[in-house]
Amino acid sequence: MVKSWRATVLTIFPEMFPGMLGRSLAGKALEAGHWHLETVDIRDFARDKHATVDDAPFGGGPGMVMRPDVVDAALDSVEGTNRPVIYLTPRGRLLTQSRVRALAEGPGAVLLCGRYEGIDHRVIEARGLEEVSVGDYVLSGGEPAAEIVLDACVRLLPGVLGSAASLDEESFERDLLEYPHFTRPQEWEGRAVPEILVSGHHERIRAWRLEQSEQLTRERRPDLWARYVARREKKDLMS
Ligand code: ADE
Repeated sequence: MVKSWRATVLTIFPEMFPGMLGRSLAGKALEAGHWHLETVDIRDFARDKHATVDDAPFGGGPGMVMRPDVVDAALDSVEGTNRPVIYLTPRGRLLTQSRVRALAEGPGAVLLCGRYEGIDHRVIEARGLEEVSVGDYVLSGGEPAAEIVLDACVRLLPGVLGSAASLDEESFERDLLEYPHFTRPQEWEGRAVPEILVSGHHERIRAWRLEQSEQLTRERRPDLWARYVARREKKDLMS
């Protein structure tokens, strides 16, 4: 039996998990044993009777910073050191589909959620934590970000999604946004489904969808578009 993908979340709000991950696709996969989730309550590693995990920042400024000794003790309690240890922070590298794919192909992940202004920088350095952001906006803590990372990974685990073909076609696997989708009724509020989609010409439908994807990506995501064009040009040069 293959060992299932293992997620450990370190947080001061363990009751936030599994949260949305207990529902829908991720929840079914959790029940089916495709992955395993455990939480570690960082507060259990505080050293004083008030269970203090944070303190004021040296140098002054707003907010509180999580203590390195407490965070380190919580990390030390986690078994399975072959898994990447990820600290969720808006300062991190932006999460990409290719990082998600690599994580899903590995044994699992250890996710550290910060609150307040973040955690003491020394523990990030000393433990070589991988800093990851889920987008250019600030959440009130790492917990919803950890759920996003796990959701993105779990749907790629073997046996979780029905069709592998739908994975190849989807956004970001090709540096393109997805083309628009339509279903019945064929006409709704005076709007008809594009004629080409009911034509039965599979080759022309494929070409139309690619064109739609390309147009949307060019308009909305110049960053992805530049990567796509560079990749296409490289492929043309090699053929
Ligand atoms: N914590 C707060 N904001 C975050 C973000 N955008 N990504 C990851 N962790 C966070």
